[in-house]
Amino acid sequence: MEHTKPSYYITTPIYYVNAKPHLGTAYCTVMTDVQARFRRACGYDVKFLTGMDEHGEKVAEAAEKNGFDSPQAWCDSMEPAFADLWRTLNISNDDFIRTTQPRHIAGVQKFLKVLLDRGYIYKGAYDGWYCRPDETYFTETQVRHHEEERQAAGESPVDPEHPLCPDCDRPLERIQEESWFFKLSEFQQPLLDFYEAHPDFIQPETRRNEVVSFVSGGLKDLSISRSTFDWGVPFPFDEDHVAYVWVDALLNYITALGYGSDDESDYERRWPAQVHIVGKDIIRFHCVIWPALLMAAGLPLPEKVFAHGFLTVRNEETGKVEKMSKSRGNVIAPQEVIDLLGVDAYRYYFMSDVVHGTDAPISWGRMRQVYNADLANSWGNLVSRTLNMSMKYFDGCAPARPTAYDEPSPLRDACEGIFDRYAACMETMDYGGAAAEVLSIVSAANHYIEDMAPWALAKDPEKADELALVIWSLLEVIRIASELYDPFMPSISAEVRRRLSLPVEPTADLAAACVWGGLAGGEPVEKGEPLFPRLTD
Ligand code: MSP
Repeated sequence: MEHTKPSYYITTPIYYVNAKPHLGTAYCTVMTDVQARFRRACGYDVKFLTGMDEHGEKVAEAAEKNGFDSPQAWCDSMEPAFADLWRTLNISNDDFIRTTQPRHIAGVQKFLKVLLDRGYIYKGAYDGWYCRPDETYFTETQVRHHEEERQAAGESPVDPEHPLCPDCDRPLERIQEESWFFKLSEFQQPLLDFYEAHPDFIQPETRRNEVVSFVSGGLKDLSISRSTFDWGVPFPFDEDHVAYVWVDALLNYITALGYGSDDESDYERRWPAQVHIVGKDIIRFHCVIWPALLMAAGLPLPEKVFAHGFLTVRNEETGKVEKMSKSRGNVIAPQEVIDLLGVDAYRYYFMSDVVHGTDAPISWGRMRQVYNADLANSWGNLVSRTLNMSMKYFDGCAPARPTAYDEPSPLRDACEGIFDRYAACMETMDYGGAAAEVLSIVSAANHYIEDMAPWALAKDPEKADELALVIWSLLEVIRIASELYDPFMPSISAEVRRRLSLPVEPTADLAAACVWGGLAGGEPVEKGEPLFPRLTD
């Protein structure tokens, strides 16, 4: 098949099945969706992948605890929690991978064979620390370093025989078992060279520095198999071992493209990925282990990894601000927010008001504030006032594009260069900046209504041309804003276009759609119900 559009491959992490998605996990998926929609609007042939991470000891334990016959049955029972939420939130993923699917297992086994053939894995004995809840191994040095940091921060010392996890502070276990190892230690210099040659690989900058300093501190070989349980991908050349869940999980990004199957054409076309969107807690897996595994297998590396921060909430008892997570019992279900704001405003709030590179506290008060200010009073109000006037003064229609449409005017000037400013923000994941650009033309239009007072122009038949230009210009801003808001609020943007008798589907050429003058006019318009009814306390 001939491909005319360039490929854009974007992924979320695959989620653990043991917890239903909450605001924090949904945040990552919505963020990825906004970028995927933006890229489609820029003419890319997008592949947007998300999915579920189903293997590992914890999943097998949860299945048993919940009375399921098999871990697979437990995973199957969790699938709707993800698939339904993504549908509700209007997530436009093109594929949904599950690590228990045959396509994935085949790809993982092929990859392990490649590593064996290329001499990058060997069998040895593992003796070290393991965090069961995080399914992560730690070296003696990492554990000691963490304890020193704790004590420096004034925390009381713990028994050296029972140290705490450097990531989550829960107790570690000492693990001794036979294991396959990946020669991660050989990749310290290649990784440092790669980071240097690709300064944009890890974003934001602070995360990049963190990873570089971690790798500079030296890398140890990584245990990549387990033999004490069997809920995982069996090593094709050593059936007593299953793949360490992280190695299994990372490979989803290529197995979803058909790597290791009879038809690798999608893999050939789309790999390497343009971006992996991940949370900051899993940056080392994505920026150290994943690139090292790919180098070892002789495969290309992804172009970019963007790490976002956590949504946090205040713990009422301790007053501490904490990551929202199931294990801390402080999660908010997405449905609660959807009930208050509706889906599009939910997406808009998290995507425009939360800075994506850092941790962000969320609050119900702030949600209401953003909703009322940006959506009810600005965007929603502009649409209903303008459509109302257009219907009233132009017989239920939009005025036809006036001859003077392209002469300098406040709204034409406000829209000049809007696409470039917006796209520059989207490119760096500065969604707040992008949304602010759109809001600036919306606010300019609301001010323009006050300044031009169309209701006064309508009373004077000699001002008919001026009235047509004013209303047409307002509708033109609405048309442009509906395209720019589309990645954030796909349903309402489509509804706005419908009310304007425009094609409901978003544009596939956003730059062209933002050029002033696109609205021909003359078609019926419909005021409809308020898009964002004001929230009262
Ligand atoms: N299964 C692994 C990922 C494997 S990817 C090859 C995993 N799963 S997870 O379900 O625990 O987390 C998935 C993502 O959700 C991570 O990127 C994590 O950062 C994100 N979040 C979980 N809680 C979060 C918040 N409170 N806030 C923002 N993101 C959060 O890790």
